[in-house]
Amino acid sequence: VTTALENYESSIYSSGKTEYANVNWDELGFALTKTDYMYVMNCSKGEEIFSEGILTRFGNIELCPSSGILNYGQGLFEGLKAYRKEDEGILLFRPEENALRMKMGADRMCMPSPTVEQFIDAVKMTVLANKRWVPPHGRGALYIRPLLMGTGPNLGVKPASEYTFLTYASPVGNYHKSPMNLVVEDKVCRATPGGTGGVKAVPNYSPIYKALTQAKAKGFTEVLFLDALTGRNIEEGSACNIFILKGNVISTPTVHGTILPGITRKSVIEIASTLGYQVEERNVPIEEVFDAEEVFCTGTAMVLKSVVSITYQGKRIEYKMGEETVAQKLHATLTGIQTGLIEDKMGWTVEV
Ligand code: COI
Repeated sequence: VTTALENYESSIYSSGKTEYANVNWDELGFALTKTDYMYVMNCSKGEEIFSEGILTRFGNIELCPSSGILNYGQGLFEGLKAYRKEDEGILLFRPEENALRMKMGADRMCMPSPTVEQFIDAVKMTVLANKRWVPPHGRGALYIRPLLMGTGPNLGVKPASEYTFLTYASPVGNYHKSPMNLVVEDKVCRATPGGTGGVKAVPNYSPIYKALTQAKAKGFTEVLFLDALTGRNIEEGSACNIFILKGNVISTPTVHGTILPGITRKSVIEIASTLGYQVEERNVPIEEVFDAEEVFCTGTAMVLKSVVSITYQGKRIEYKMGEETVAQKLHATLTGIQTGLIEDKMGWTVEV
């Protein structure tokens, strides 16, 4: 730990040429590349606040076999990115939004949560300590994964007595390198009203692996889920929110408890409105997908990606792609702000 902290401090105060890790940046996909440090903070038994955390070498952690996260999935995660600017500076994109979303999720999952300040400090320290892993400008990003989990032992069904907040990071490139072909899933549901679909709960994700694996085996990139109650409205993908465009109107499903309130989703809505599009958050019936001109998905990992096709009950619909699309315009504005190429009038970026 001492060495970690010494390196961390020297990385903050060192000046001169930026040092980079030995990575083939152009080969990056969305997979873990182990970096140097992670940040860990605990909330001990009987306490409701997290004590000061520490930077430590990235590595395996020890868990009681009876911990809340292992036995009952009492855990949340977040995802955010640090981008290298042209002048080598580093920007985080809306970290406060991730901190607030984790607080909301913690309330739903009966967990104490770090304060917004603790969350942002942890993220900044993780980025600084792993600075050499932040890809060069325009060649990827450092993805930061904050975790909040019940680590206290629990045999019975109840909230854990101890919690750990941990942030680690990995350089990443595109989530999907190939074009996006979606298939509508009409048997497996991602979320139900009253469930945890609206927060970033650990147990939201693995139940959709089966549908995703089957879809991939048939050559699709992603699954598009429908609402559990009627099966008539589109909800989201396995790792992204969805938007459809027709004329000047951009529509996306309302965030009403079964859909993840994506930070990229929210940012795209704000950018599109500023650019003069009419943005509607509402129920989007599956039939409207047949009629759309463009479809795109958003997420921290995915950023904003156009959809080539959607297949529903054997029928395949194709959409407009390429440089002249609205999706491309939104993508350019969003990534321009994230990487410091476009002036951030919204106050979304935070210098590390
Ligand atoms: C993200 O976009 O950050 C996500 O959390 C989606 C996925 C990788 C689970």
